[in-house]
Amino acid sequence: MKEFLSKLRKDYSLMGLHEHEMEKDPIKQFEKWIIDAANANITEPNAMTLCTVGKNMKPQSRIVLLRNFDHRGFVFYTNYYSDKAKDIEENPHVCINFFWVDLERQVRIEGVAGKISQAESNEYFQSRPRLNQISAWASPQSQVIQSREELEQKVKELEEKFKDLPVIEKPPFWGGYRVVPTMIEFWQGRPNRLHDRIRYQLQNDKSWKMDRLAP
Ligand SMILES: Cc1cc2nc3c(=O)[nH]c(=O)nc-3n(C[C@H](O)[C@H](O)[C@H](O)COP(=O)(O)O)c2cc1C
Repeated sequence: MKEFLSKLRKDYSLMGLHEHEMEKDPIKQFEKWIIDAANANITEPNAMTLCTVGKNMKPQSRIVLLRNFDHRGFVFYTNYYSDKAKDIEENPHVCINFFWVDLERQVRIEGVAGKISQAESNEYFQSRPRLNQISAWASPQSQVIQSREELEQKVKELEEKFKDLPVIEKPPFWGGYRVVPTMIEFWQGRPNRLHDRIRYQLQNDKSWKMDRLAP
């Protein structure tokens, strides 16, 4: 296996990162990059790895989908009783990672997560397909369940229960979090592992300090 893995080598050579071409505002820079990722037809360009550390100090990571971002932060949706939500309740410091392999790019974000308003969560919930809404009601996310059939049976029951309702209400246990960033790093692969890294750190006066980091 060691030999097999050591043969997996990709050299990165698409482009470089130059300070003078980077936006002063990392949110604008992120916007450019996620649009680039979508235009490059990367599958699920808004999929991101979210890391949390609860009070047991054990880091946990999983993919969630970025559903909004602006100067207030990065928004994803989940079940408020899930393991990630419990971790965030105990310790709101999280980090996020995007890897867009076809563009040889990575973005790392550190920040503090907090629940968004019910109104904002409701608005997003109403934009989801009806069957996704029913799945949110049906799934006790992160809990042990007896079988796939149990879950599918629950979906059937909920479809019946909601069948005459034109609008399905958001479950009270489901909604969004916004990660307010304190650090955003942009990574571009370069030949021979001499990659480019540009890091933005939030300062006390709310401005962003830009630094180049060694790869
Ligand atoms: C491509 C992809 C997208 C996902 N998007 C979400 C999401 O937006 N929200 C979510 O709660 N889980 C999402 N998941 C499932 C999570 O990775 C995870 O299994 C689930 O949230 C339970 O995590 P937890 O037990 O750590 O809370 C996604 C998984 C994948 C692979």
